[in-house]
Amino acid sequence: MPNCRPTLCSSVPPVFKVSCIILFLEHSMSTAVKQIPIQDFVTQLRKFPEAAFDQTEEIRRYLQETPVSSDSLAPYLTWDRQHYTRNLIDKTPLYELLAICWEIGQASSVHNHRDQNCWMAVPIGRLQVENFRVVRQDITAGSCKLEHADVVEMNISQPCAVDPQEPVHRVLNPREFNQRAVSLHVYSRPFDTCVVYSAEQGTCGEIQLHYHTTYGQPCK
Ligand SMILES: [Fe+2]
Repeated sequence: MPNCRPTLCSSVPPVFKVSCIILFLEHSMSTAVKQIPIQDFVTQLRKFPEAAFDQTEEIRRYLQETPVSSDSLAPYLTWDRQHYTRNLIDKTPLYELLAICWEIGQASSVHNHRDQNCWMAVPIGRLQVENFRVVRQDITAGSCKLEHADVVEMNISQPCAVDPQEPVHRVLNPREFNQRAVSLHVYSRPFDTCVVYSAEQGTCGEIQLHYHTTYGQPCK
């Protein structure tokens, strides 16, 4: 979006002045979304009815319109050079909310979400989501065939919802992004296992998920 200020439009025809003002207003609106502390984000998230978690658009729009301030996340951020960390912020029967901390170059396995919905926002840094199509899978036999679908970027103004029809993906913080990143994940309902895939080897299997911290405290 051009950074077009009305004051720069004094020597152009009126129709372009109007266009410039509209662009300026749109640009101002898109960059001036108020960030809120994570505590306020949780308070509002808890008010959503059960039906909001059964489809993806309402919560996705909430994440889009309600970016979380990075400094309020400090109690939930832990870093490990060997592996991204999973930090529980809030959990109800309807959802769990995690902050996941990604060092430069770290990536998740390719995985699904056990048929649960998932939304992701990125209040710090940038991340990529790489989506896959499942051509076939036999979890009992541990075999699968995946195809690459697409890659999308997430950042503070661009959250995303996992597509329930094609939920297999991985998240990565590419080296070329050259900065740490933090993502917020809303999972509904909460789940503690998932299926991980190796697209290259054509294998898959169930794993147990763990937290590194819960409510700001290290897990024993
Ligand atoms: Fe995921």
